[in-house]
Amino acid sequence: MKNSILSVIILFCLSTLIFSQDLPGGEEALGTKKYEQYEKPEACKSCHPDIYQQWTQAMMSQAYTHHWDEIEYFDLAVEHGKVDPKFAPVADGCNGCHTPIAFLSGDVPPPRPSENSRANESVSCDVCHTIKSFKGDEPFNFSYISQPGRLKWGNKPGLTSPHHDTEESDFMKQAEFCGNCHNEKDPFGIWVKSTHLEWKEGPYAKQGVPCHQCHMPKAWGKNATMAEKSMVSQHLFHGGHDAGKVAGTIELRMHPEEREVEYDGTIVLKVQLFNGKTGHKFPTGSVEDRIVWLHVTATDANGKEYHLPVDKKGFDGEEYTIAADVLAYQDMGIPKRDPNFKGVQRDGVPFGDRIFRMPYFDPQGRMTIMQWNTASLGVDYRFGPRETKIETFSWVLPGDIPEGKVNFKAKLFYQLLVKPVGDYLGVPEEETTPILVNSASTWVEIYE
Ligand code: HEC
Ligand code: HEC
Ligand code: HEC
Ligand code: HEC
Ligand code: HEC
Repeated sequence: MKNSILSVIILFCLSTLIFSQDLPGGEEALGTKKYEQYEKPEACKSCHPDIYQQWTQAMMSQAYTHHWDEIEYFDLAVEHGKVDPKFAPVADGCNGCHTPIAFLSGDVPPPRPSENSRANESVSCDVCHTIKSFKGDEPFNFSYISQPGRLKWGNKPGLTSPHHDTEESDFMKQAEFCGNCHNEKDPFGIWVKSTHLEWKEGPYAKQGVPCHQCHMPKAWGKNATMAEKSMVSQHLFHGGHDAGKVAGTIELRMHPEEREVEYDGTIVLKVQLFNGKTGHKFPTGSVEDRIVWLHVTATDANGKEYHLPVDKKGFDGEEYTIAADVLAYQDMGIPKRDPNFKGVQRDGVPFGDRIFRMPYFDPQGRMTIMQWNTASLGVDYRFGPRETKIETFSWVLPGDIPEGKVNFKAKLFYQLLVKPVGDYLGVPEEETTPILVNSASTWVEIYE
């Protein structure tokens, strides 16, 4: 008896697994659905007003319409696909994550955001709440299996709604759900986005802390106007575009090796940088665009300011982690149809500052921000979750340094997009404005 129940259960599990595996996911799902099968976010607004308003302020509601997305998609990716047809399917694939219902409806490339088509709904309520599971062993490249309809999956069992059916989904509560779009492999087989994979190998996965706990924190309230109060998952999805979320991600402390130094000596400063806040690396996601850098200055007793370059550590690829006067991103010349394009400044931050990044290289070995054109990755000098890095600054005192106190200031900045690239492509300044992550200070007494 027990055995037969068990085999029925096993058979049932197997069949749902096989059945799910038969439903299209990833590239093969292109054009398998229609826009009309998905409800508009406005259809959810009347009963879920708080969640709706939170979502409109999150980047996922603008994943297709946001200026930088429009520029990179239409001016670089789509154009690259025209110059080199090998990249045309890749450009279609952008929509699999940025506007899933356009992709699933086969509407690629979708109309421009200014045409106000349904593609503008971006990553909408109904996109996420009709994801059944994912296809394959590891979620990546829009591998989600979409099953639109009356049934909306959620995180709680036994709820009833006049507008739809609901069912609890274990999958929705897992980091793998987010991994469908937060892991990306390019045509060269390179992981060009790996937020979920970074999380998976870090301490938070081991302690059972999924993405949701930091990006959809729970608070007491109503999840629908007519619902009983409960702990409700807030749809904040705040990340790199929220200066408050980025602030304090890394904690900084700085000290000198000696508190008192002779006027002709050398001051050695150590800066400790602790990542206490992210569940993945920092920066993560669009790592090809992002830049994080440490700027250290000294101010002597007369108020004169000096900029201190970081000490080299000597690891392979370190040249990409120290700001310098070099050109890069020459491959933008391909979609821009400018074969003589010399590139733009690689960093756009003060020379000598330490940069925490992982460079992406095109097939010619030049740094690129076109993640789909990445043939290899360079040194990974980012902050792992809960990792601490130490940077040293040795400063040979200038001959005219006055007696008295020298004050030191260390500032860590984050920028969504390397500024020279943003300027070249005409991306609005908000994308290239430095965000202060944290700062620290210390002092040394100079004596004659
Ligand atoms: C007419 C009102 C109404 C509309 C419109 C509506 N819902 Fe709901 N929804 C509810 C109610 C009521 C609940 C149950 C709340 C409870 O009891 O905690 C609910 C629950 C949910 C849940 C939670 C399910 C779970 O098991 O945790 C999800 C997800 C959801 N709705 C998604 C949507 C989406 C997506 C839309 C728009 C396509 C939508 N709802 C439109 C009333 C509505
Ligand atoms: C990026 C995917 C995503 C989008 C977009 C999204 N949700 Fe959700 N939603 C989730 C996940 C994941 C959960 C479960 C959270 C958890 O497990 O803590 C959830 C939970 C919910 C719940 C139940 C909350 C609770 O704790 O009772 C409701 C209701 C809901 N969503 C409605 C909506 C509505 C309405 C929209 C659009 C305005 C929306 N969601 C947009 C992923 C999404
Ligand atoms: C259907 C694809 C999809 C799914 C599923 C998805 N995301 Fe996203 N997410 C995106 C895209 C696309 C962006 C980029 C938006 C943009 O263009 O800036 C994004 C951006 C974000 C951001 C960045 C916000 C910022 O300020 O830069 C956060 C945080 C985020 N998602 C969290 C999550 C979490 C947590 C989950 C799982 C509960 C999830 N996402 C599931 C597609 C998805
Ligand atoms: C322990 C808390 C924590 C967990 C767990 C966590 N994150 Fe984050 N996440 C953060 C913080 C803090 C930031 C802001 C700093 C930054 O930009 O990295 C962030 C930023 C992001 C960003 C924006 C990155 C950028 O530079 O634009 C995305 C996307 C994101 N998280 C997705 C995820 C996904 C997907 C998961 C699960 C696989 C996850 N996060 C797990 C704390 C967390
Ligand atoms: C596997 C899903 C996926 C695919 C495919 C994908 N993206 Fe994204 N994209 C994301 C996610 C998730 C983010 C947010 C990461 C973060 O916040 O750091 C993002 C971020 C971006 C950003 C930065 C947004 C910002 O405001 O900083 C741009 C631009 C962008 N994608 C363009 C593209 C283009 C163009 C393509 C196609 C060549 C593409 N994406 C393919 C998931 C995807």
